[in-house]
Amino acid sequence: MSEPHQQSATDIRLVEVGPRDGLQNESVKLEVDDKIRLIDLLSECGLQNIESASFVSPKWVPQMANSSEVMTGITKKPGITYSVLTPNARGLEDALSANSDEVAVFAAVTETFSQRNTNCSMHESLQRIETVVKQALAAKTPVRGYLSCVLGCPYEGSVNPDVVLAMAEQLLGFGCYEISLGDTIGVGTPGKAASLINRLTAHVPVERLAVHFHDTYGQALANIHAVLPLGVTVIDTSIAGLGGCPYAKGASGNVATEDVQYMLDGMNLKTGLDMQALLKANRFITGKLGRAGSSRAAAALLTVDD
Ligand code: HMG
Ligand code: MG
Repeated sequence: MSEPHQQSATDIRLVEVGPRDGLQNESVKLEVDDKIRLIDLLSECGLQNIESASFVSPKWVPQMANSSEVMTGITKKPGITYSVLTPNARGLEDALSANSDEVAVFAAVTETFSQRNTNCSMHESLQRIETVVKQALAAKTPVRGYLSCVLGCPYEGSVNPDVVLAMAEQLLGFGCYEISLGDTIGVGTPGKAASLINRLTAHVPVERLAVHFHDTYGQALANIHAVLPLGVTVIDTSIAGLGGCPYAKGASGNVATEDVQYMLDGMNLKTGLDMQALLKANRFITGKLGRAGSSRAAAALLTVDD
């Protein structure tokens, strides 16, 4: 295992995944300059982590085709880690050439989702990941690990938490510093989310875990609220609640950064985020996409502002 992120003055670290998970499923083709502008606006929000792009096959995810130009075009702000998704050695090579600060690997906890998302079995996926992690660490690049479908699979239904635990332990063993637990299709509920965290933290330190809730069934904030008392301090969020995986039928956006920020602020938990700066980023990207995002807090606050 490599070292986890340094604890800072904040209570909760939000990992902004909007430029990657948020945009990957959007049908409106965004210009490189618009993606760069979005990341530059997010850099003004007080975030410590921005997942900015992904180096996957453009045939599989066309929206992420210009990730090298995006990563070399952004204005990096000191103190922010700009990470990218890498499915294989080719993706890692491209990510490192484009000055990515950190990479993320991803695996599914069901066979069908693994095949649909990465065209390989779970076992093959772990083998690929082990190689990527080894090469990334040799290049002194930290690696985050994602597990998909931890609370349910669009193809196989319910998931055994012991499989999630075994895979989380494998990814940590390879050298990932943190595992982000993806409720890819947003089917989780507070009870199930808490029970999964309890199952995992019997074996894995809670500091190594992050949560990644999609909000398909409107449960994401409730799920976060349920896992905070269990010691979870890292939450993936997406500006304007954008997001979805092209290979997860029916999956809607990630929990909105603005909504999580509003809730945590109300709980006196410090994130270091600036809501006005988030609203500026929200206005920009929803304008470019030509549709309102799903953030309720942003909708309310922008109405008050008008
Ligand atoms: P494959 O077709 O089996 O790969 O795809 P291949 O090695 O046979 O290569 C096929 C073609 O792709 C070749 O090109 C390669 O060069 C090219 P061709 O010879 O046909 O012209 N290729 C690449 N091009 C650019 N970058 C690369 C790359 N690799 C191969 N890195 C592969 C296997 C893994 C590449 C493919 O399945 C893939 O890209 N999958 C990614 C799917 C994806 O991005 N899904 C969304 C992200 S995961 C997610 O959203 C979940 C998450 O948010 C957490 C949660 O919510 O659960 C993280
Ligand atoms: Mg996701």
